[in-house]
Amino acid sequence: MARKIIIDCDPGQDDAVALFLAFASPDELDLLAITTVAGNVRLDLTQRNARLMCDIAGKHDVPVYAGCAEPMSRALRTAEMIHGDTGINGIEVFEPETPLQSEHAVDYIIRMLLAADEASVTLVPVGPLTNIATAIDREPAILPHIEQIVLMGGAMREGGNRTPSAEFNILVDPDAADIVFKCGRPITQMGLDVTHQVLSTEDRVARIRALQNPVATATADMLRFFDRFDTKKYTSKGAPLHDPCTIAWLLKPELFEGKECNVSVETRSELTLGHTAVDFWQVTDRPLNVNWIYGVDADGFYDLLIERLDRFGA
Ligand code: BDR
Ligand code: CA
Repeated sequence: MARKIIIDCDPGQDDAVALFLAFASPDELDLLAITTVAGNVRLDLTQRNARLMCDIAGKHDVPVYAGCAEPMSRALRTAEMIHGDTGINGIEVFEPETPLQSEHAVDYIIRMLLAADEASVTLVPVGPLTNIATAIDREPAILPHIEQIVLMGGAMREGGNRTPSAEFNILVDPDAADIVFKCGRPITQMGLDVTHQVLSTEDRVARIRALQNPVATATADMLRFFDRFDTKKYTSKGAPLHDPCTIAWLLKPELFEGKECNVSVETRSELTLGHTAVDFWQVTDRPLNVNWIYGVDADGFYDLLIERLDRFGA
């Protein structure tokens, strides 16, 4: 039976590819809804961009909700310098047909989880954790209904991508991350240590473009734009494709290597705000709260992505 999931996102080119990968995998994943949050760009753009991806993929029936427009208790930081002013630069933006649901994403998450069986829904947050943490904070009774949380955020060996010690999603709302890391449900975490291994090299993007269907073309166009900042910053051949790692792990966990660790987040320091302290060598007695993913078969990951994107041409 397909696993029930919710993708909570802030599209973002890499968020968009995560959505496409999930859309293409209905045998394994039952995508109940897409919830959106402010992050890479403002909420009015992230919710529009999520609906736009539904349009491009012909998935008008997936409900899309808009959630929190600001982090729990801080000012919003966005990332237009990476994603462009629309959040999905690289493709032309239009007003999508896929409707926006009127309910707030946090109200939806609470209502849906309370009505779900125990441990039956997987949450996949690939942006700041504001929506998920607000739902947990407001209604802790949702927790037993969550099967697991598979998130993109944080870093250990790779340091930070927005400050020297913090990854963007965690930095934007460290208070929300703190609530999620302490929530007691199983967490699998894709930090920069693993996402920096799945580079969208020219060869890989060319393979995607060669599929010649609208979703693959949109993916290739977005990745070409997404590239320009990171390849300069990291002097790498291609940008990391962060968010789709979560969906790829749900589809093919055997592509990844992970270890149970404690992950805690810095919420106070001015210098290291949003840093994820990953106790990889168990030097503390803090509880093991995260399956910390540190390795991936990058060729296997792109083979999977390309095989799934090809389905949109069928
Ligand atoms: C994360 O931040 C965003 O820019 C990406 O969409 C990804 O979720 C990487 O640090
Ligand atoms: Ca994201």
